[in-house]
Amino acid sequence: MGWIFGQLKPYKRQVVYALIALFIGAGAWLLLGQGVKAAVDQGFLANNAQRLTQMVALVLAIGVVGSIATYFRFFYMVWLGERVSADIRQQVYSHLLTLSPEFYAKTRTGEVISRFTSDTTVLQTVVGSGLSMALRSTVTFIGALLLMLFTSHVLTLCVLIAVPIVLLPIRIFGARVRTYARNSQDRVADVGAYIDESLHEIQTVQAYTHEHLDREHFSQRIEGVMGAARQRIRFRALMIASIIAISLLAITLVAWLGANQVLSGELSAGELTAFMFYAVMAGGSVATISEVIGEIQKAAGASERMMELLDTVSQIKDAPMPQPLPQPVRGELVLANAGFSYAESQDLEQEWVLKDLNLHIQPGERVALVGPSGAGKSTLFQCLLRFYDMQRGQITLDGVPITSVGLRELRQQFAMVSQESVIFADSVRENIAYGRPDASQAEIEAAAKAARADEFIAELPEGYHTQLGERGVRLSGGQKQRIAIARAILANRPILLLDEATSALDAANEIKVKQALDELMQGKTTLIIAHRLATVTNADRIVVMDKGQIQAVGTHQQLLTENALYRELAQLQLIA
Ligand SMILES: Nc1ncnc2c1ncn2[C@@H]1O[C@H](COP(=O)(O)OP(=O)(O)OP(=O)(O)O)[C@@H](O)[C@H]1O
Ligand SMILES: [Mg+2]
Repeated sequence: MGWIFGQLKPYKRQVVYALIALFIGAGAWLLLGQGVKAAVDQGFLANNAQRLTQMVALVLAIGVVGSIATYFRFFYMVWLGERVSADIRQQVYSHLLTLSPEFYAKTRTGEVISRFTSDTTVLQTVVGSGLSMALRSTVTFIGALLLMLFTSHVLTLCVLIAVPIVLLPIRIFGARVRTYARNSQDRVADVGAYIDESLHEIQTVQAYTHEHLDREHFSQRIEGVMGAARQRIRFRALMIASIIAISLLAITLVAWLGANQVLSGELSAGELTAFMFYAVMAGGSVATISEVIGEIQKAAGASERMMELLDTVSQIKDAPMPQPLPQPVRGELVLANAGFSYAESQDLEQEWVLKDLNLHIQPGERVALVGPSGAGKSTLFQCLLRFYDMQRGQITLDGVPITSVGLRELRQQFAMVSQESVIFADSVRENIAYGRPDASQAEIEAAAKAARADEFIAELPEGYHTQLGERGVRLSGGQKQRIAIARAILANRPILLLDEATSALDAANEIKVKQALDELMQGKTTLIIAHRLATVTNADRIVVMDKGQIQAVGTHQQLLTENALYRELAQLQLIA
């Protein structure tokens, strides 16, 4: 809760407005009782019609003031709720952007999305209406109690004895409500994750006619949500019902006592009316508070989860005192005894995905990485970009260990075309300009032309402004790949990482794109992963990788004579 209040700090002005409105409102409602009392005693019972009219007018006036105050209280409170949840969303999102791929490998994005939407919505209602109601009720309760005391000590004493008893159910059921609320939100997140996954892969779902199983799995999850909610609702309902029962009992008792006092002349009818007015008000406040406490408990569950997200720190630490790269960056990469494992504990020697890599890549050199699937080629790229940190040895860029370079500066030296082309649900233009948002239209078109993407872009309904749809569903595999290549070309960075960058292209386009890439590679260090050896025979050096180790390094001709694995690969592809 302290955390949520902390979020209110920048909005002191609005909080003050809300509080002023709240006090005026509560004051007006309390004053109303005095008006009613006067109307009964001085007008009604005294048979004074004029006084009665005056008092009724007064009551009406107080009611108008109270209503206006309510408008402002409601407005500012709900506004604050929206504002706080918007701020929390921004904080969480910008934090999520810093988390390493290792986090996303463990957490399902759908779950994160659900935390985002449903948990912040819970916080929003609590801050917006819950807190407002709780505050108003507290003020009303205290005010009503004071005015009751003013009317009758004995009766107030009775009410005071009753209040702790009324609140007892909160103590008994509150903690349960909170636990179940958290549980329930977790289930909702689970459902979110499932929807996200199955709908994203809808073609596979339908192709394998997996719908009925999905329906079943989904229904299990939904029932999980219901089950968790049922627990929470049961305890909340129990809590609310017992509070209402106890307060009703207390009010009736007090009213009975008061009525007797009126009969014996100790109290006027107006006083009893006012007292009961306040007692009901106080009782209502207690009921509201108890209900809000249920809400707050739900919010506490939600904010715990938000804070958990905010507390997750990236496995990849930015260098505390970054060492600048020598300018201009030449792109010399040295791997010294580099070893890496995805597993967190490295007890098992066979878990190493990369083992003792030693390689010196000269500035401007063109190096190809070849080897069987699962050899660790893509993993090496990920380590270069510091998506993961090597556990052993080190990698240096222009003589500086990559862990000592500022993360941002390091990544800005690489242009990568990943194994699976990544297209954002945006226009062609934005997709190509991704690495250089300030690029001019001419530059973007030049990059598209070099990547042989200009022709198909011209045929799209709105050319460069065509929206590509989620994950680029409106493009073919080869078209997506060419957009990704254009992006790398436009980014124009000192080191180029190509992971199967031309694998989805037809032979004619592949040759053309290769020519474009050859031009681009001039003066740039380039690492090319390729399964099709024909595309890399002209590399300066070819590195043969197998099971995380470097087997051999050499030119195409050297390797053909010296390395059995390479020769075998080449023979299978009919290029030996
Ligand atoms: N996020 C991950 N967590 C755990 N293990 C992983 C992860 N990513 C890859 N691996 C494992 O690391 C090994 C190397 O994978 P990598 O993707 O580097 O292979 P690759 O050489 O690029 O293969 P391909 O040619 O098929 O793309 C594989 O055995 C794979 O199972
Ligand atoms: Mg790979």
